This record gives sequence, C-alpha cells and structure tokens, in this order.
Amino acid sequence: MRRVLLLLPTRAYRAADFLEAARELGVEVVVGAEERHALDEAIGSRVIELPLHRPEIAADAIVEFADEAPLNAIVPVDDAGVAAASLAAERLGLAHSPPTATALTREKAAMRRRLAQAGVRQPDFVVVAGGEDPVAAAARLGFPVVLKPLELSGSQGVIRADTPEEAAAAAARIQRLLGHSTEEASAPLLIERFVPGVEVAVEGLLSGGELHTLAIFDKPDPLDGPYFEETLYITPSRLPDEVQRAVQDLTGAAVAGLGLTEGPVHAEVRVDGDAAAVIEVAARSIGGLCARSLRFGLGVSLESLILRHALNLPLRDTTAAHAASGVMMLPIPRAGVLVEVRGREAALEVPGIVGLEITIAPGGWVEPLPEGDRYLGFMFARGETPAAVESALRRAHAKLEVEVDPNRAPRRRSGSQDSEAGR
Ligand SMILES: Nc1ncnc2c1ncn2[C@@H]1O[C@H](COP(=O)(O)OP(=O)(O)O)[C@@H](O)[C@H]1O
Ligand SMILES: [Mg+2]
Repeated sequence: MRRVLLLLPTRAYRAADFLEAARELGVEVVVGAEERHALDEAIGSRVIELPLHRPEIAADAIVEFADEAPLNAIVPVDDAGVAAASLAAERLGLAHSPPTATALTREKAAMRRRLAQAGVRQPDFVVVAGGEDPVAAAARLGFPVVLKPLELSGSQGVIRADTPEEAAAAAARIQRLLGHSTEEASAPLLIERFVPGVEVAVEGLLSGGELHTLAIFDKPDPLDGPYFEETLYITPSRLPDEVQRAVQDLTGAAVAGLGLTEGPVHAEVRVDGDAAAVIEVAARSIGGLCARSLRFGLGVSLESLILRHALNLPLRDTTAAHAASGVMMLPIPRAGVLVEVRGREAALEVPGIVGLEITIAPGGWVEPLPEGDRYLGFMFARGETPAAVESALRRAHAKLEVEVDPNRAPRRRSGSQDSEAGR
C-alpha cells in the first residue's frame, strides 16, 4: 500500500477533504502536525509531531520516520508545510519543487526580486528596511501604492495609499499589526505601485516544470482597496480567450522564474486591458475551503488531483465537471464577538447554491481586514454560466444576517476551525 505524509497546520480547514481524497485513493495516510492532540480530523491515521515552523528540524524528523516507514509522497496542505515538505522530499528523492524555489514564495520581497531578474511583468516595487522612511520610498515610486508586510498572507496588512499621509498611516498600522510600536525597531515592508484593473486567480498543477492550468477564477468584486478583502471567485473566467492565454503564459513565466517544478500553484494576476501583471505566486493550492468549488472529470476533487500527482498516479480527466461554479468567502462586517449567522436555510434554498459552511463558531472573535486573518465562512454555487453562479451567490448572501457584538470582550480569539490565513 502506498503511504503519504500529509502536513497539516494545527488547525486547517481542509484536513477532512485531503483525508477523504486519500481514503478514496486507497493510500495510507500519516499526518504530520505541530500538535498531535489538536487534530480531531486525523483520528484513525497515524500522527507524528513535526515543528513545521522550523523546516530543517521537521525535515530531519520526516527522513528519520521514512527510514522505518517508507513514504511515497509528502503533501503539504498549505503554506505552513511547504518548506519542510520540499526539504524532506529532496532528501528522500520524492517529487518536489526545490527548497530554494518554495522559499521564494514565502517571502514577498525575495519573490519580487527574483521575478524582476526573470523579467516577469509585475508591479514596480521598493523594499523598505526597518527604520527607513516608507513615505519617501512611496513618493519615489509614485502614488497610488500598496504597502504590505513581507510574510503574511490572506491580504492581512495589505493597504493601498493614495497620498503621503495615507502611506504614513498605513505603514504605522502594518507595524502595529506586526507587533512593533512605531518607536521600536520596525519591520521591513514591501511597497508597490498599485496596479489597476481586474484580478484573476490561476489554479495550476506543475509536473516536471510544465504548468497545467486547472482553473482560472474571476474575482468580480472590485479589489481597489484600501483593503483587499476577497469575496467572490467564479470559474470559468469571462475574460476573452486571448487575455486568459496571456494570464496563463505570465503565470508559466513566473513559476519558471521562481524555479517551481512540481505540485500545486495558486497565482494572482491583475489584468488591465490586455496587459497582465503578477501579484503573487504560492506553491500551494487555493486556500480555505475554496477548493470545494472545483470538481474535475466525473467529480474528482482538487485534493485528489494533488495526491495523485504527488504519488505519480495518472491524473485522468482534469476538465471542469460543471459548466460554471464559484465560491463566496463570506466577509466579516465588523470586529467583535460572533453572535449568530441567521438565514442559512434561506440562503441554501436559492437555486444554484450547493453548500454553506460557517467556519467560526458563535462566541469566536472576528475582525475585518487589514487586521483580520480569517473569513467567516464559505458559500458554494454551481450553474450553467458564470453570471448565473455570481448572481446566485449574491442573492444567497443577501439572505444572510451576520450578528457581531462589537461591545463584548472576546472569550477567545478564534472559533472552531480557524487558522490558515493563506487564501
Ligand atoms: N501592487 C498591487 N496593485 C494592486 N492590487 C494589489 C497589489 N498588491 C496587492 N494587491 C491586492 O491585495 C491582495 C493581497 O496582496 P498579496 O500580495 O497577494 O498578499 P497576500 O499574500 O496577503 O495574499 C491582492 O490579491 C490584490 O488584490
Ligand atoms: Mg495573495
């Protein structure tokens, strides 16, 4: 029996979906996680404790484990396990992207520098060292700009500024979010020219350096800032074919420039007219529960395709199983304690809606961007056209009433299945 090591962050949205896919494929799963006891979903699987935030140490432990129980694949569920997975896979001779390449995807300044060297079209940028004046750097670049921390994800701490005053306020807010008061030594920031236009997400699978595009999602809600909360993801894209080809080519160039060769990739690309620019490339698949909006062939999940690729099994049919599908990441209306989400039945009754998961338990603390690091939940739809899917999600969202009490102290900072900001 084949054996796969699944690297799970302590609290992951997608553990159950990966475990289900492994069960269907008939492979033995060993779960590698930071904390053994925190993984209810992993019951029935062998669990090994791995310090995923210290990739070299985690990789040593994986190699040692594989001496006794040989592994056929190592699959990180999200960003948290990517570095440890590629280090260990390299030593064990398993399919992987080079650790140097995956590391570039985990640090925004390093990624920008490498993409610049590779001549990949992306926003103009400057990296501001801690203690350096971000406003002068932003002014040199030219407004509007986007300021961001180097190592967060899920749009956390990503802020647009149109003036020097806004840039100063944004930089201070990001430093606070990172736990630095303005007087203290501050963290380095990335400042980029704001790229106008629409945004798409590319979901792909790399095999031997070849990028296979599985889906291009439109993001039909405008992402113009000052904060960049993602809501709707709808596939297939409604952009003209030649623009979609340009997006795929650019993603391919970015992936090659970074040196990624194997496994899932998730890229964000801005399109202004027919010019595309890379916002970001991650060496993982789409975050949260969003992958549930995708089904391939006769209903195969993205998690299943990722496992098949890692195990060197044939992928078979990777065409979309549905004419159109989509997901809405449910926005958080204000900071406070989540009391209740009403209207779920009514939302589920809207034709086209096929699922709704609230991923923060009542009593959990919620906070919008740029400070927040999680979504309230995910709603899924299918339909004959992308427009029908979009309209179903909007109509269903209008039925939801999210009650957040801004005056109650948080009982705890989070709900049931939170974490994994990487979207
Ligand atoms: N230079 C930019 N121009 C326009 N929008 C941007 C720019 N940088 C980031 N954004 C917006 O902010 C979002 C999050 O930024 P990103 O760099 O992808 O960070 P994260 O790792 O948090 O996802 C992007 O998806 C995009 O909508
Ligand atoms: Mg991003």
